[in-house]
Amino acid sequence: MKTKLTALFFLIFFVSVFAQTVTSPSGLLKLEFILDANGTPVYTLYSGTDIIVKPSRMGIFVKNIPALTEGFEVVKTETKSVDESWEPVLGEYKSIRNNYNELAVTLKRNDAKKLFIVIRFRLFNDGLGFRYEFPNNGALTYFTVTGERTEFAMTGNHKVFYIPGDYDTNEYFYITAALSDVNSIKGNDISEISTKTVIADNAVQSPLMMKSDNGYYINIFEAALVDYTAMHLLVDRKSFVLTSALVPNAAGDNANLQTPCSTPWRTVIVSKKAEDILASKITLNLNEPSRIKDVSWIKPQKYIGIWWELHIGKSSWNYGDTANIRLSEMNWNALKPNGKHGATTENTKRYIDFAAKHGFDGVLVEGWNVGWEDWYGHQKEEVFDFLTPYPDFDVDELSRYAKAKGVGLIMHHETSASVTNYERRLTKSIDFMNKYGYKAVKTGYVGRIIPRGEFHDGQWMVNHYVRVAEAFAENKILLDAHEPVRPTGLNRTYPNWLACEAARGNEFNAWSRGNPPEHESILAFTRLLGGPMDYTPGIFRIKMSEWDKNKTEQVHTTLAKQLALYVTMYSPLHMAADLPEVYEQHPDAFQFIKDVAMDWDDTKILAAEPGDYVSIARKAKGKSNWYIGAITDENERIMEFDLSFLDPGKEYTAAIYSDADDAHWENNPTAYKIETRNVNSGAKLKIRLAAGGGVAMELKIKN
Ligand code: NOJ
Ligand code: CA
Repeated sequence: MKTKLTALFFLIFFVSVFAQTVTSPSGLLKLEFILDANGTPVYTLYSGTDIIVKPSRMGIFVKNIPALTEGFEVVKTETKSVDESWEPVLGEYKSIRNNYNELAVTLKRNDAKKLFIVIRFRLFNDGLGFRYEFPNNGALTYFTVTGERTEFAMTGNHKVFYIPGDYDTNEYFYITAALSDVNSIKGNDISEISTKTVIADNAVQSPLMMKSDNGYYINIFEAALVDYTAMHLLVDRKSFVLTSALVPNAAGDNANLQTPCSTPWRTVIVSKKAEDILASKITLNLNEPSRIKDVSWIKPQKYIGIWWELHIGKSSWNYGDTANIRLSEMNWNALKPNGKHGATTENTKRYIDFAAKHGFDGVLVEGWNVGWEDWYGHQKEEVFDFLTPYPDFDVDELSRYAKAKGVGLIMHHETSASVTNYERRLTKSIDFMNKYGYKAVKTGYVGRIIPRGEFHDGQWMVNHYVRVAEAFAENKILLDAHEPVRPTGLNRTYPNWLACEAARGNEFNAWSRGNPPEHESILAFTRLLGGPMDYTPGIFRIKMSEWDKNKTEQVHTTLAKQLALYVTMYSPLHMAADLPEVYEQHPDAFQFIKDVAMDWDDTKILAAEPGDYVSIARKAKGKSNWYIGAITDENERIMEFDLSFLDPGKEYTAAIYSDADDAHWENNPTAYKIETRNVNSGAKLKIRLAAGGGVAMELKIKN
């Protein structure tokens, strides 16, 4: 009997179970693919002999056909190895190596339809990417995705840095907890986010950063999100299995697709060194090369703007205070001004002068166009026309003035999430920008999406953001999107899409409980893995009580840390967010913002730990200068800077912008010191960062 059972077992094993492995180029990571006895695709990820992802099921649910989660057999497998390099248009490195081993498994469903899918795995030295592909083989042409079951089975109760899974917003601060304790409804103060749609109390967003007891840093994310919904994750708080959760559309489905097509890449980045997570290029490597042929016009943008003064309440976006405005019937010249309007001709000229004097590329002006009187909270279709300036904003004169001063005006298109309205008016608004010489635009999607029933992270909006990036690219216009789905490396494909917000930016410090001192160190391990962020650093007047004595809000960093953020947060678009009059009070510290580069030949992650600290050195594009930024959380710490990356044999001058000895983010945030030292590649600097503090450095070869 026993022999019979063993024979039967082996029969089932050999008939029903298929297994194939692929290793990373270095040999450290191993991916094992199997088809289990139900014909379900299952993968396991190892690092050496350690399991990183336990056997995890894969599959998709499609309307009107049996679930694509089982009943498969393997038709064929193909492997290949790739080792190539490419140069980003703007980026953290001059050249990026794309080195992986691939396994593509073609699966057939043995039913009447004989449907094929391909699961393609790419194993890099620092992680795994895989996606589902739907070839055009006759069995499936037009289809509706109603769910995805992609599992990431963790080996234990890892520490996790999470924000709530939400179809509409990512503007939360992070909670650090064990997987078993994730609670996205009770755990986070979600009251201050107005447009929120939290999925469930066990739902979290990706990129999801985790740390295991045996010392692995594991990040789950996705790359190349196009024509699909964002992937959120549901946490099983007992088994520690994470499962993909897609975003519904107005019809209650997830995605409407047409073969041939594929899902975005699902990724697992893994290393025993936290620094490797920040240095990983998996996300970019899994995106398509630039679709823009002539990229000569794509340049970094360092900008100022009529912006922070709006957030601190010094001036207003709106011109009048009257509510109940109707765009088509309004006589804007007859509207009584409220006396606080920020975007006046005179004020804009003041910013243009300041930008010209200090070498900024652009000036953003928010509140220039009619419609801000009741722009928000009413689900109005027709809020803005993106064409009509308020009576006190002379666009003719300002475009002439900015041009004469060599400064670019940055357009602002707040859509108030009425996206149908925006799409109808996009061509005309681009014509307007071309007429007045605007070369960059900031878009915004505050509110509930129209078409009603759609979400910021759903397929319809994902396609909208890309359509807009393409339309601007055709007109040689640079793009910065606020409130979009979080980026997934598409800045490789659309390099004019310089940055996104898509996380909780510095603005929250102006009018809410703000961002805790650890926030920016977690952003590095989460949001920033998808691409550049328009975080708007550079706030020097840290306490809002200095603007209005009744205010208690404040930025939760020291002034020196605001400088360090220009280096720790990679972005080819950075704002100097504070007001000109504030910078004029601190010309010495302001110098760093003026000098810091935004496009790089090289990047070294010197030290990093999610929730604690980040220290990064970067070499300016085409230059010999290096810049260093290091930040800490609410704990002060002494950080060491090993400068062995400098050119050996060369002497450098280091300008060091650090926290004063008595600085503290809460008690004494604006105490900083600036010193100059002579250093070379043998130097090991030790610098103290205050609680909530940071340090910024410029290293220049001595003449
Ligand atoms: C939210 C954006 O993040 C912010 O930068 C902008 O000022 C407001 N929306 C108004 O558009
Ligand atoms: Ca925002």
